Amino acid sequence: MAFNLRNRSYLTELDFTREELVFLLDLTTQLKSAAYAGIARPRLTGKHLALIFEKSSTRTRCAFEVAAAEEGATTTYLGPQDTHLGHKESARDTARVLGRMYDGIEYRGSTQDVVEQLARHSGVPVYNGLTGTCHPTQSLCDVFTMREHSDKPLRDIAFCYLGDTRNNVANSLLAMGSRLGMDVRLAGPRALWPDEEHLAACRRAGTSSGARVTVTDDAGAALAGADFVYTDVWVSLGEPAATWHERVDLLVPYRVTAKTLSATGNPDVRFLHCLPALHDRDTEVGAEAFREFGLDGVEVTDEVFESPASLVFEQAENRMHTVKAILVATLGS
Ligand code: CP
Ligand code: NVA
Repeated sequence: MAFNLRNRSYLTELDFTREELVFLLDLTTQLKSAAYAGIARPRLTGKHLALIFEKSSTRTRCAFEVAAAEEGATTTYLGPQDTHLGHKESARDTARVLGRMYDGIEYRGSTQDVVEQLARHSGVPVYNGLTGTCHPTQSLCDVFTMREHSDKPLRDIAFCYLGDTRNNVANSLLAMGSRLGMDVRLAGPRALWPDEEHLAACRRAGTSSGARVTVTDDAGAALAGADFVYTDVWVSLGEPAATWHERVDLLVPYRVTAKTLSATGNPDVRFLHCLPALHDRDTEVGAEAFREFGLDGVEVTDEVFESPASLVFEQAENRMHTVKAILVATLGS
């Protein structure tokens, strides 16, 4: 069945029905196959996209730029110093200006409120490229990647996210998995469990979709039988450096190692990470984590990251294909 998502914004997973999200997953499959077969044709010719990034990005920015270019649209990158947004101009005013010139707006920044105001006042589709609250273009990509690498129907797929279970990526996986009816397991210390209101909304979504939602501090129980193990950084963009000590104390038991994968009891388990990942000492932050805490690789070991179980670069590529589907569904012709 086809769904008309024309002119819709993509701000959070729970704004969409299960069928609409499945439609976006199916459209991604079609667009990725067409690109691989060399039979794609541009569907966004003459469209213009503003890409606002108040925080740094490799994948999200590149996914939007390449997806737009392949579909014939232009993009304007607006980095942290490039607009008046928040300093001299409100989100509401910025939205009304950009809406006069652009057909769509992507926004990455701290607060969900800004992306919602852009959507409310611009008159054009707005895409959430990550806020402190959620990362919905990531979760669409993650479930697409799971579907590509599993023979099971979506509803039978079990994934276990370990670590900071109330960060943007965890919130999004919880919402996406709940809406789609999956077996969703979040394992982390109680101090970092999801916001109760968000969890309740996801549980409600799960009631109608048939999702099984588990939030626990028992990593072993959450891992048993999982098809996918997922983790993310322990300290997210914009969080103070002082957070590191507390997070390491809380999260070392949830670090993804070879033993973590074995604990699933599933020889075919696959590993996912939204990236960037601290899996070795080859970055400034990774080197600092080794000096300060003796951790060689933080949330995941290099052994797991580089193992055949790891799908992280397939997942990164899929950011582009899924963003393309969102753009085509909402703006295409
Ligand atoms: N996963 C992700 O959003 O990566 P970037 O921060 O590089 O965009
Ligand atoms: N939780 C991470 C995700 C990065 C894509 C962050 O916000 O930094």
